[in-house]
Amino acid sequence: MKKFLLAANWKMNMDVKETESFFKDLSLKPNDSYDVYVAVPFTDIYLANKTKKFNEIKIGAQNIYFEDKGAFTGEISTSMIKLCGADFVIIGHSERREIFGECDEMINKKVLKAIDDDVEVILCVGETLSEREDEKHFEKIEKQLKADLVGVDAAKLDNFAIAYEPIWAIGTGKSASKEDAEEMCRFVREKVKEMNPNLEAKLRVLYGGSVKGANAADLSKEENIDGFLIGGASLKTESFEAIAKEI
Ligand code: G3H
Repeated sequence: MKKFLLAANWKMNMDVKETESFFKDLSLKPNDSYDVYVAVPFTDIYLANKTKKFNEIKIGAQNIYFEDKGAFTGEISTSMIKLCGADFVIIGHSERREIFGECDEMINKKVLKAIDDDVEVILCVGETLSEREDEKHFEKIEKQLKADLVGVDAAKLDNFAIAYEPIWAIGTGKSASKEDAEEMCRFVREKVKEMNPNLEAKLRVLYGGSVKGANAADLSKEENIDGFLIGGASLKTESFEAIAKEI
């Protein structure tokens, strides 16, 4: 079992005032049992990094572009987030895929760019409710992994995370059962191992989708769940810390 990863994804929430007060209050210290990562909006990266109480907490972004600089209105590069203090980035979240039309080819370019520039990656994969009902969830995850991980050279990185997030469980309050989450996280691990055994050696597989204090203990005990990607429950220090208490 790898060291557990508690990764927060704030999405488009928390202005600078809320960010400052969150990190002043957060008393969650990474320890031998878990790491703590917080992916904040671009506008909060610098302040979050300055305000956090513990150096070991990693601050990250929720997206990057795959070019270094130029005429790409509205986009942000890896060197920009690094200079603000980001150590990691979430790539391919289902909201990026579904709302902003990001395809696997673009996601693959972003993954390769982050690795080249030494920014740790949390790659997200997951199926829709209709894909699950049609029993196409394994096929969908395999397709995403195969396309998103093309050309990844494990020798270039120390850590890599893949978050399995069933879209029907995101923000709905309805988590996957621990059995379903474990089955899919095991599948992710096995597929990565088949494709790139060196990458699997550095991989943590996370579950995301309505994780909260009440279901964290059960989910975290599953053999192939090495961490959580937490949305709603990461916006308040109390609910974020309540999850950590169960690990
Ligand atoms: O990135 C986080 C996931 O989308 C899960 O969000 O915990 O609000 O369901 P949620």
